[in-house]
Amino acid sequence: MIIVKNLSFKFSNEKEYLFKNFSATFKRNTIHYIIGENGSGKSTFLNLLNKPKMITHSGKQTKINTSIVSQDYRSMLVLPFTAQENLTFSRMKTHPGMNKMVGENEKDILEETSIFPMNIPVENLSGGQKQILAISMKLQKNTDVLLLDEPTAALDEKNAKFVFSFLKNLVKEKNVTIFVICHKKKYIQNFRYSTCIEIKKENNKAERTFIQKNC
Ligand SMILES: Nc1ncnc2c1ncn2[C@@H]1O[C@H](COP(=O)(O)OP(=O)(O)O)[C@@H](O)[C@H]1O
Ligand SMILES: [Mg+2]
Repeated sequence: MIIVKNLSFKFSNEKEYLFKNFSATFKRNTIHYIIGENGSGKSTFLNLLNKPKMITHSGKQTKINTSIVSQDYRSMLVLPFTAQENLTFSRMKTHPGMNKMVGENEKDILEETSIFPMNIPVENLSGGQKQILAISMKLQKNTDVLLLDEPTAALDEKNAKFVFSFLKNLVKEKNVTIFVICHKKKYIQNFRYSTCIEIKKENNKAERTFIQKNC
């Protein structure tokens, strides 16, 4: 289980709290789907989960590695370079001073699954392929919990399905827990390892309520 305990937050220029003493447990190796109206606080919640110590494992004190991919995932990619080169850059950033040649022993997720060609310039990849590459770059640092802010917002349905099939595979095969903000439920409907968190803004109240349910 992943535990969020007494999460409280307000913006420094605001009087009232957006979140107050929110506590919850979340299953691991699951896609937790975050929904809510615009301005309900989805992105703020995701960013808070990315802070060290905001979430812990049940039972043990081990550190959880989180990685966040913002809506602006394209800014992570160096377009004239290939997908493979971009992965290599991300590994170098993750392990500064690492003297082992990158790619020598470690097989990364994309190389293993080879779901698209790694040796063409990133600018020639589809939107879905770019998003998957950006996610894979973040996974280089042994991520336990992956936080995704509307990964399919800029994608058509075919690309969005491609990204979600990749995410489902991560959860089933790679021991990753995912929190994903997305407006379309259909991409995970009928996926066994999923739950839904709705963040709600009630009229005239700053404090948000959380509703956890099955998708
Ligand atoms: N830096 C900020 N200062 C004050 N209020 C903010 C700031 N950033 C966002 N907000 C407000 O916090 C609320 C939640 O925003 P956000 O988390 O971006 O919502 P969502 O991602 O669900 O659309 C909104 O009402 C937004 O206007
Ligand atoms: Mg948002």
